[in-house]
Order: sequence, then C-alpha cells, then structure tokens
Amino acid sequence: MVQLRQIGKEELSIVQSIANQTWPSTFANILSTEQIDYMLHWMYDQPQLESQVERGHTFLIAEENGTAIGFAGFELFYLEESKSKLHKLYLLPSYHGKGIGKALLQEVARRMREAGQQSLTLNVNKDNQKAIDFYRSQGFVEVYKEVIDIGNGFVMDDVVMELNF
Ligand SMILES: CC(C)(COP(=O)(O)OP(=O)(O)OC[C@H]1O[C@@H](n2cnc3c(N)ncnc32)[C@H](O)[C@@H]1OP(=O)(O)O)[C@@H](O)C(=O)NCCC(=O)NCCS
Repeated sequence: MVQLRQIGKEELSIVQSIANQTWPSTFANILSTEQIDYMLHWMYDQPQLESQVERGHTFLIAEENGTAIGFAGFELFYLEESKSKLHKLYLLPSYHGKGIGKALLQEVARRMREAGQQSLTLNVNKDNQKAIDFYRSQGFVEVYKEVIDIGNGFVMDDVVMELNF
C-alpha cells in the first residue's frame, strides 16, 4: 500500500536519492549527461534542498511498505497570493503508471485548497512529452514557453503549465 507523508530537513536525502535514480532515464534523450549532473547538484545537493525548505518549499514522499518511491516538492503562495508552484514530481522508474503521481498531485491540490490557493503552476521540459501528457490528463493547460539560463552554458527549455481551481 502506498502512503504519502511530508518530510522535514532531516530526511531530504530521500529526495536526493530518488532524483539521482530517476533523472538519468527521464532525461536520457533530452539533456546531455553533463547537464543532468549539473542540474542534479544545483537542485538536489543537501544544502540546496535545505535552502528550498527554508524558502517555503514543502516535500511529500510516497512510500510503499516503508520504502520511499517518489516525491513532490511544492510551494504555496508562489509570487502571487493565490498561486502555488509544483517544483518537483518524480517517481522511481519502476513505479510509473500506477497512479502514484496522480495521488501526489492530488495531495498537493488538497493542501492548496485548504490554503485557499486558486492555481498551480509548473515548468516542464518542452521535450518531456510523457510528463506533459500526464499533466494534460490531470487538467493542466500550457500557458507559455520559456528558456531559462541556468549557468555553465546550460538552459532549461521549458513549457509553463497551469491548473486552475
Ligand atoms: C510524470 C509522473 C510523475 C507521472 O506519474 P505516474 O504515477 O507515472 O502517473 P499516474 O499513473 O498517476 O497517471 C495518472 C493519470 O495520468 C495519465 N498518464 C500518465 N502518464 C501518461 C502519459 N505518458 N500519457 C498520457 N497520460 C498519462 C494516466 O493515464 C492516468 O490517467 P487517469 O487520471 O485517467 O487515471 C511519473 O511518470 C514520473 O515520475 N516520470 C518521470 C519524472 C518526470 O518526468 N517528472 C515530471 C518532471 S516536470
């Protein structure tokens, strides 16, 4: 049985471990190995994750029989009062397609509603078609594209999607 729970700073290594196991296959045909390594350090090293929590990010993990298999990272009151941002949603590859991503997303949405939030925004790589299709199936629409310079000669080439409540 899959259970969801919020974790604190002391358990952020779970998030880093799942990201390290999930990013290479997710982005194998989209990003260079160098960019995957760069982004994993930039976003998932312990000090970075801790600083995200300090800035208001919440991390939920999904566990099956006590083993962590996925996570979501999100932020309420993102830039505008009524908007939240889904920063991260990753499941170990062998757990895709079993309804767990949807369960994590629904838990984020439940917490947003409780906080009176009206829309959820996210960035997804424009070539991550599987994720785009997943978000579309959950009611997200594409609002615009953006290219973000992340340093070291790398860019994030993204689609911004939004779900309104
Ligand atoms: C994207 C991801 C989070 C989706 O989670 P998941 O557990 O695999 O998806 P679910 O089984 O919960 O699917 C939920 C719904 O989405 C639909 N869906 C999932 N993947 C889909 C796809 N590739 N195309 C179309 N629909 C899809 C399912 O049909 C299902 O529909 P339902 O609402 O009728 O039941 C997961 O596959 C993942 O971790 N992928 C790799 C990492 C990644 O790309 N993360 C996003 C970065 S922005």
